[in-house]
Amino acid sequence: MKMTKNAILELLRQHTDVYVSGTELAKALSVSRTAIWKGIEQLREEGYEIDSVTNKGYRLSSGSDVLREEDVRKYLTAEGLDVRVYRSITSTNTVLKTMAEEGAPEGRCLIAGEQTAGRGRRGRSFYSPPDSGIYLSVLLRPALQAVDATSITACAAVAVAEAIESLAPVKAEIKWVNDIYVDGRKVCGILTEASLDCESGQVNYLIVGIGINTRVPESDFPEELRSIAGSAFGEKPIPELRCRLAAGVLNRLMYYYGSLTDKAWFDEYRRRSLVLGREINILAPGKEPEPAVALDLDGDFALIVRTESGELRRLNSGEVSVRRRTE
Ligand code: BTN
Repeated sequence: MKMTKNAILELLRQHTDVYVSGTELAKALSVSRTAIWKGIEQLREEGYEIDSVTNKGYRLSSGSDVLREEDVRKYLTAEGLDVRVYRSITSTNTVLKTMAEEGAPEGRCLIAGEQTAGRGRRGRSFYSPPDSGIYLSVLLRPALQAVDATSITACAAVAVAEAIESLAPVKAEIKWVNDIYVDGRKVCGILTEASLDCESGQVNYLIVGIGINTRVPESDFPEELRSIAGSAFGEKPIPELRCRLAAGVLNRLMYYYGSLTDKAWFDEYRRRSLVLGREINILAPGKEPEPAVALDLDGDFALIVRTESGELRRLNSGEVSVRRRTE
C-alpha cells in the first residue's frame, strides 16, 4: 500500500492543475479503485490537501506542505547525511545529543515538524508549533579547537538565509550573532551545542540546531513574541516548501562546512548583517540596555562596538538589539 500511496502522490503532483479521476489513477497504476481510495485517505491523514469532486476526481493542492523523509532526500545533494524525519519530537537537539553520546556518526540529522520541548539560547524555550516550521539538528564531529567552532554557527546562518531566498523573493538578513530576520521579524534561531574535550580544548562533537518559522499565523505566536517573531514566507503556495527548505539548508551548510577554513561565507555573513553600521543596544541579563554603535566584525565573529563613552569594545557573545541605522 505504501507503494500505491507514493505512486498516487507522484501522479497527482504531475497534474496539480486538473482533476484526475479514480479510474484513471487505478488504470495508470494497475490497482483497484478501492486501493486508490485507501491511498488517498492515507495521504490526507499524512496532511496532504487533496480536493475531490464527484465525477471529476482528485486534485492535490499546490500548497500541500508535508514534511516527509523521502521528499527531503529527493532534494538533498550533500553527501554523508543520514536524515531522519519526525512528525513530532521533544527537541531535535536533545534527542540528537543522546544519539551523539551513544556514538552516532557525523552527518546524523533529525528534522521535525513540531517540537514539544524546543530549546533556545540562554535556557529559553523555542516556540515550535506543528505544520508551520522546520526544526532540525545536525551532528558534526569536526577536528576543531573549541574557539573555532563559532564559525559553524555563522555558516549555518548564511546557509539558512540563502536557502530562504532561493525559495521566495524575500531578503534574509542576519542579526548578530545567529538570528535570521525577514521584513524586520525574527524567522529563525540557531542553537549550536558542543561537547568538548577539556584537556585538549578540541571539540568532541557539535550539534547545530536550526528552527525556522515558515508560516506561522501572527496571532498564533505567544503574546511575548508577537512583536519580534515572524514567518519567512508569505501566503503564496510553494510546493513542498518545508522539504525543499530543509534540504536547501543542509546542502548549503554541508558545503560551507567542507570549506570552513577558506571562510568564503564570511563576506556573505557581513553582507547580510543587520547590525553593522547601526545604533544598537547591548543586552545583558539583569542590566539596563547599553547604547552603542556596531562598527565591525572580526574574523572570530566578535562584534566590535563603540559605546556612548567612546570606548571600543569587542563582544564575543551575547545579545544586541537594533535601534536605528547610523548615517
Ligand atoms: C534561539 O533563537 O534562541 C535559538 C533557537 C534554536 C531552535 C532550534 S529548533 C531545532 C533545535 N532543537 C531545539 O530544541 N532547538 C534548536
